Amino acid sequence: MNTIQHIAVTGGSGRTGRFLVEALLREGYHLKLLLRHPEQFPVQGPSITIIKGDVLDPQAVESLVAGCDAVMSATGQRKGEPLMPSQAAFHILNAIEAQPNRQIRYITLAGLSVDTPTDEKGSVTQQATNWVREKFPDVYADLQKAYSLLQQSQVDWVLVRVPFIEFEAATGSVKVDLADCSGTKIAAGDIAEFMVAQLKEEKYLRKAPFVAGG
Ligand SMILES: NC(=O)c1ccc[n+]([C@@H]2O[C@H](COP(=O)([O-])OP(=O)(O)OC[C@H]3O[C@@H](n4cnc5c(N)ncnc54)[C@H](OP(=O)(O)O)[C@@H]3O)[C@@H](O)[C@H]2O)c1
Repeated sequence: MNTIQHIAVTGGSGRTGRFLVEALLREGYHLKLLLRHPEQFPVQGPSITIIKGDVLDPQAVESLVAGCDAVMSATGQRKGEPLMPSQAAFHILNAIEAQPNRQIRYITLAGLSVDTPTDEKGSVTQQATNWVREKFPDVYADLQKAYSLLQQSQVDWVLVRVPFIEFEAATGSVKVDLADCSGTKIAAGDIAEFMVAQLKEEKYLRKAPFVAGG
C-alpha cells in the first residue's frame, strides 16, 4: 500500500464529521474537504484545502478525489433534500476508479439499518433496522443501493455501521463485531478514531463492521 498522506473528506461539516476532521488533523494528514457552505466551516489551517460543492455533483467529487490517497465520508441524508447516499457512493467510487492509483481506500459511515449478507442482527439491531425501513423506506432502500455499489466495485472500502451517536470526545473503548451491534450508543470521537485507524488496518477491508461504545 502507498503511504497515505492526503485524505478527501465529505460530510466534514457534520456533527460526526467535525470529530473526524479533528482526528485526521491530529494524525498529521493533509485534508481536502468538500463543503457546501465553506463560509460556515470553523476549522482552517495549512493542512486544509476546501472545495466548495455538493457530493451529488460528479465534477465536484472528481476534483475532491484527485490527488488523494483515501476518501472518508461522514455525510448523512438531510431531511427534505434529494436522496443522497447511493448517488454519493456512485460518484465517489467512479472518481476513485478513474484515478491512476487504484489503491485509494473509501471509508464511509452509516447507521445500523444497512443489511449485509453475513449479518446476524439481534433484536435491538433488528428493531433499529425495522424502524428506518418503516419510517424512511426510500432512505433505507437508497442505503442498500449504496451498499450494493460498494460490493460491485473493485475499491477497498470499509462501511462503518454505528448505533446512536453521542457527540462527545473519544473514550478509547469500542466493541467491533461483523454480525451484530454490541451496544446502543457510541461517542463521535470513537467513531472518528476507528475510521482513521482503517486507513492502515487490513482487517475490515470490503466489510461493514458494527462499532459501538465499549
Ligand atoms: N446522528 C446519529 O445518531 C447517527 C446514528 C447512526 C448513524 N448515523 C450516520 O452517521 C453519519 C453522520 O451522521 P451525523 O448525525 O454526524 O450527520 P449530520 O450532522 O446530519 O451531518 C451530515 C453531513 O452530511 C453533509 N451532506 C449532506 N448532504 C450533502 C450533499 N448533498 N453534499 C455534500 N454534503 C452533504 C452535510 O453537509 P451540510 O453541512 O452542507 O448540510 C453534513 O456535513 C450519517 O451517515 C448518519 O446516517 C448517525
